[in-house]
Order: sequence, then structure tokens, then C-alpha cells
Amino acid sequence: MKFKNYTRLNSDEMKRPKISPGTFQRLLSERSSFRGFSKKPVSLDQLSKILYFSAGTVRFLRQDLDSSRRPYPSAGAKYPLEIYPLLLVGSDIKKGLYHYNVIEHSLETLLRPINSADLKDIWMSQKWFRKASIILIITATFERTTEKYGQKGIGYSLIEAGHLGQNIYLVAQKIGIGCSAIGEFREDAIVKLLDINPDEELPIYYLALGN
Ligand SMILES: Cc1cc2nc3c(=O)[nH]c(=O)nc-3n(C[C@H](O)[C@H](O)[C@H](O)COP(=O)(O)O)c2cc1C
Repeated sequence: MKFKNYTRLNSDEMKRPKISPGTFQRLLSERSSFRGFSKKPVSLDQLSKILYFSAGTVRFLRQDLDSSRRPYPSAGAKYPLEIYPLLLVGSDIKKGLYHYNVIEHSLETLLRPINSADLKDIWMSQKWFRKASIILIITATFERTTEKYGQKGIGYSLIEAGHLGQNIYLVAQKIGIGCSAIGEFREDAIVKLLDINPDEELPIYYLALGN
């Protein structure tokens, strides 16, 4: 049962707000997971918008980098998350594995070209997302947050991935790109692909993007 209600108690009804076309309320109410990918490319400009408006350094409280802030909240502004765009389909940016450099707003090339042999171990049973254009791999370097908050920092980092994921969904939808969260990937294979040290950084969330 996924709904809780107190049938014994009084309740006050609320008027459901109207949802006007073209509004943020409409964007929220229409957010949904898209799985009908067809290997159509996502352009560099579209990827740039998705990354910048969901995760970029969009505000500075002062002149220094340390005071930069992003579109999602982060406990203690520690920002433990990293994003690795895995481009399965090339466009005006080639197929490959990249790291989003949030300071420069650039894509650092980790592996290019990339071929199916490099990816063969990462997939699990769901086939639909192999036709996505891009898979955003989100990792957490938990220590950035646990250093200040102890073990609670693990939960905080996961919460932040949810905030970031929602931004990605909404920005993608706003610019006409389909998006779906994915829970299942072979994490050990992703760790190998990213060449990260699992004692320091772990993949925690994945979002497929495409047309
Ligand atoms: C953490 C998480 C993992 C998910 N993993 C998958 C997945 O592996 N495959 C899939 O098809 N959808 C996945 N989804 C998407 C959910 O199935 C989807 O959000 C849910 O059915 C509600 O539909 P909606 O997003 O269209 O509103 C995942 C969502 C979340 C938040």
C-alpha cells in the first residue's frame, strides 16, 4: 500500500492549483521517465545546458571559487558528486567517456574512441537504455561530506544525488530531451571503466538521456 490516509480523522480539502501551459508548474507536472530511445544524438549545446543548469557553478557568493554554488543544495556546500557523461552516440562531440569539469564547464576526455568491448561488462538486463545517446554516471566522493558530518555524510551525498537527478530530469524535459533514471548497472565494471579508486569514489546513480 503506497498511500497513507487517516480515514478516522477530519480532513481539510485543498483546491488543486491550476496548471497553465508553459509554466514551471506544468514542467513539474509533466516530468516523466522516457525510455523510447532510438540512438538519435544529443548535441553538445543540449548537453551543455543540461549540465550547467542542473550542476554548474551558477552563482558565486564572493570572488573566490570556494564560494561557488550550484543549482542543487549540498550539505555544507561540500559538493561530493561528480558527473561522468558516457556518450554512446556521437554528435558535434565524439562518442566517449568524459568527466564534467564543473569549474571550467568543460568535458575532460577520459576515453575516446570508445567501443562496445569497453562497455560489455557494464550492462545488466534492461536493454532499452543501450539506445540512449548519453548516460550520465554520477559518483560520490563521500569523504568531502563525511569529513564534516561523519557517517551522516553518506546519506547526505545520496540525497544530493536525488536533487541533482531531479534537476537533470527537469532541464532535459524543458529542452525536449528524454531522460530516465537507471538503478541497475554493474558497479564494479563502472568503477573499472572510470578508473576510480572505490575506497574514495563510488558510482551511485545513472541517468539516460536521448531523443
Ligand atoms: C533510484 C531510481 C532508480 C530507477 N531505476 C530504473 C531502472 O533501472 N529502470 C527503469 O526503467 N526505470 C528506473 N527508474 C525510473 C522509475 O521507474 C520511474 O521514475 C517510476 O516508474 C515513475 O515514473 P515517472 O518517472 O515517469 O514518473 C528509476 C528511478 C529512480 C528514482
